[in-house]
Amino acid sequence: MLSLSNVWVEYGEKVVLERISLDIAEGSFVSIIGPSGAGKSSLLRVILGQDQPSRGTITLDGEPLPKECGPDRGVVFQRYSVFPHLTVLGNTLLGLEFAQAPFAARLFGGARKAAIAQAGEMLAEVGLADSMNLYPSEMSGGMQQRLAIAQALIKRPRILLLDEPFGALDPGIRTDMHALITRLWREFGLTIVMVTHDIKEAFGLGTRVLTLDKRRHDPHAPHRYGAGVIYDIALTRKVQAEAEAQVVGITIDTFGNN
Ligand SMILES: Nc1ncnc2c1ncn2[C@@H]1O[C@H](COP(=O)(O)OP(=O)(O)O)[C@@H](O)[C@H]1O
Ligand SMILES: [Mg+2]
Repeated sequence: MLSLSNVWVEYGEKVVLERISLDIAEGSFVSIIGPSGAGKSSLLRVILGQDQPSRGTITLDGEPLPKECGPDRGVVFQRYSVFPHLTVLGNTLLGLEFAQAPFAARLFGGARKAAIAQAGEMLAEVGLADSMNLYPSEMSGGMQQRLAIAQALIKRPRILLLDEPFGALDPGIRTDMHALITRLWREFGLTIVMVTHDIKEAFGLGTRVLTLDKRRHDPHAPHRYGAGVIYDIALTRKVQAEAEAQVVGITIDTFGNN
């Protein structure tokens, strides 16, 4: 479905990613891990269409990826995805308003009614049906991330990009969010690409785990070489279940948050 061919991301002299070639199948859940600064967020930005790769091509269903971030791709960041001055409902409606009324960003009459119904359904999906009139400051971090997910999914994207979405949440809440994202992935037939620092989360949720790191390093010119895909691990259901149970014991020092 999504294909990256020899993709490079460079900022001036600085090479962040080099020679990334990947085929992502529809319906897969791809986890990406790697040290801080490896270029994980940069990779998500080029898939989102927010940044252009400096070399290489990205195709979606065999066609070049549209230059702008279209409704086919949604994104959730670790925090600050939601607008503080809008209620839960207002935040969720916003996506539809921008899509349907790009200049005024307001809908009226029947269109507004339909949008409110659609937003209500999506909020029910993420467990916020009773919180529609709350402001983000009145909600926990977990509820805010539920809202960010509703906001990302309201336009029914096929691809959902997650950049350390649960990294700021308490472990118990994170477990609830894992159940939520797994259900939404199945229910909406999403293709998910998720960056995480949590190796258990990567293996527990993903159908495939990629590790990004530099293959080579020049101590005299640290920016000379970029990161590439070092490991590309396809997980069967059984391995996934075992990983969910056992991976807690695995420690990989280089993937620590710094
Ligand atoms: N707009 C930019 N201009 C220059 N350097 C950037 C820009 N965006 C990211 N970088 C650099 O690219 C590298 C990778 O960043 P990032 O993709 O955020 O890594 P990660 O998400 O893996 O921590 C970092 O060294 C960062 O400073
Ligand atoms: Mg990042």
